[in-house]
Amino acid sequence: MVRETTLAPHHLIAPLFVKEGVSRPVEIEAMPGQHQHTVSSLVEACGVLAELGVPAILLFGIPARKDAEGTAAWDPDGIVQQALRAVRAEFGDRLVLIGDLCLCEYTDHGHCGLLKGGAVDNDATLEAYARIAVSYAAAGVDFVGPSGMMDGQVGAVRRALDGHGYPNVAIMAYAAKYASAFYGPFRQAAESQPRDGDRRGYQMDPGNVDEALREVRADIDEGADIVMVKPALSCLDVLARVKTTFGMPTAAYNVSGEYAMLRAAAARGWIDEQAAIMEVLFAIRRAGADLILTYFARETAERLRHG
Ligand code: PBG
Repeated sequence: MVRETTLAPHHLIAPLFVKEGVSRPVEIEAMPGQHQHTVSSLVEACGVLAELGVPAILLFGIPARKDAEGTAAWDPDGIVQQALRAVRAEFGDRLVLIGDLCLCEYTDHGHCGLLKGGAVDNDATLEAYARIAVSYAAAGVDFVGPSGMMDGQVGAVRRALDGHGYPNVAIMAYAAKYASAFYGPFRQAAESQPRDGDRRGYQMDPGNVDEALREVRADIDEGADIVMVKPALSCLDVLARVKTTFGMPTAAYNVSGEYAMLRAAAARGWIDEQAAIMEVLFAIRRAGADLILTYFARETAERLRHG
C-alpha cells in the first residue's frame, strides 16, 4: 500500500538477437535462456512479449558476412531490415520496434566505427550511421538506438532521418554508455568482440560522472527522445542524476553481464533467482529509470501478469 516504486510489463524493453543464415535459434552459451533467433523464431518471441504487455523490443542483427566498413548494416535486405519488416507485418503497431544502430556486429575488426590508421574515425563513422538509420527507417523502425558512442551521432542520425522523409522516427540515445566488463556475454551473443584493442577510446570511463551529464545534455540538444544509461547496476548513481537533472524519458540497460552473473549464481543454487531479479529491477526503477532494457523482460512480465 505504501510502496513508492512500481514495476509493470510496460516498463520493460526486451533486447533480442536475430542472426542471418541459421535455420533454428541458437542458445547463447554465456546468456542461458537467450537466443540468436531466426526471423521466424524472432516473430514468435515478439508475439509472446506483445501478449504479455511488453511494449517494445530492441533488435540486434548478426550478419552472415562482415567487412571492414560493415556494409551489411545498411543493406536493404540485411538481417535487421528483414526482421523489422517481418515483425511489423505480423504485429502492426502492437510493438514498438527499436533498432540498435552500431557497426560492431558488422565490421570484421569488431569496432563500433570505421578505422583509419588503427583508430576509429569518428566523422566517417557518422556517415555510415546516417546510412544505417535511413535503411532501418525504410524497413519500418520506430526508434533507432545509436550505441557506438561517436561524438555527434545523435545529431547526424536526426539530420539524416529528417532529410530522407522520416521525421517521425525517434531516437533512443545510448547517452551515458560506460566502457564495461559487463558487456562480455553480449559480445558472444552479437559476435562483436573487437579483434584488437578495446572500446575505451569511445565509451566512457567508469570514474566519471560529470562527463556523463555532459554526454546526456549533448544528446538532448542533438535531438534524443529517450536517453539511456548503461550499464544499469554499476551506474545507479548516474541514472538518478540523469533523471533528476534532465527530466527526460530515461532508460537503463540491465546488460548481458548483469544477466549472466545472476543466472550463473542461481544455477548453482547460490541465490534466489526470482527474488534477485525483482530486487534488481525495482532498484533500477527506484533510481529513476522509466524504462528498463532487460533480458529478464519476458519472464518478469509473465510473473507480473500471472503472479
Ligand atoms: C554495441 C552494443 C553493446 C551492447 C549494446 N550495444 C556492446 C558493446 O558496446 O561492446 C551491450 C549490451 C549488453 O551487454 O547487454 N555497441
